[in-house]
Amino acid sequence: MSDHLVEMRLISKSFGAVVALRQVSFALDAGEVVGLVGDNAAGKSTLMKILSGAYTPDSGEILLDGHPCHFDSPMAARAAGIEMVYQDFALVPELSVTQNIFLGRELLHRGLRSRFLDKRTMSERATHLIERLGLRVPPGDTPVRAISGGQQQAVAIARATAFDARLVIMDEPTANLSAAAIGKVREAIGNLKSHGVAVVIISHRIEDILETADRAVVLKRGQVVGERRVADTGSDEILHMIVAGQDPRRAANNGPSKSA
Ligand SMILES: Nc1ncnc2c1ncn2[C@@H]1O[C@H](COP(=O)(O)OP(=O)(O)O)[C@@H](O)[C@H]1O
Ligand SMILES: [Mg+2]
Repeated sequence: MSDHLVEMRLISKSFGAVVALRQVSFALDAGEVVGLVGDNAAGKSTLMKILSGAYTPDSGEILLDGHPCHFDSPMAARAAGIEMVYQDFALVPELSVTQNIFLGRELLHRGLRSRFLDKRTMSERATHLIERLGLRVPPGDTPVRAISGGQQQAVAIARATAFDARLVIMDEPTANLSAAAIGKVREAIGNLKSHGVAVVIISHRIEDILETADRAVVLKRGQVVGERRVADTGSDEILHMIVAGQDPRRAANNGPSKSA
């Protein structure tokens, strides 16, 4: 049994000869914010793409509320309340802010003989979602190509939270953003948490993790090499684990650890 919102057990994944993940276990509680850190190619995106249904694992299992589940597509994970904000936002530049937020999940009026788009409700809900996150974006009918990177990130996050998400995964949400926009993204994570939504944030900026996360999990070459409560660590120790690929506290107690 599992009391966690989500538990990934002994997940492995290879791409041809490249072993991206080796028996990785990872758990997350409701409303918890976890920072997933590690060098390039450590396996962070792959692990989260498995959780959000974009990839299927070669082995291992995923439990949601303690029940085994198989996400064979992002739609399946979404239906279970798990959403991922991709590194490149995955927005459609020609479509408006509101259209992007509801893309593929448009709200419809149910008429007597036909259905048609409920544009007004979508527009109102888009505004509400963005405000709830503490973000600011130009009017909903503005095409996404006309807004800044920070505003595009806000739209991508609003999109991920539009349908009662229980877990929002953000892959490098502050990359290429201005300092002000980075602050807004961090604030939005705090707002999600206060609404009981769990967040996984993958970031190269240790400050993102220290400011937003409850816990940091360190991956190296497809394995979990360390884990800390953020209140109980600092950037030096996290950086050390990322670079050395081992937990200094464990190494000090038991000699060099070959992680299981
Ligand atoms: N779709 C894919 N096809 C082939 N190799 C991949 C694919 N996705 C990831 N990989 C490989 O898996 C490893 C882990 O990648 P990734 O999960 O993107 O790492 P990170 O996000 O930590 O930088 C890397 O060696 C990467 O090249
Ligand atoms: Mg990545």
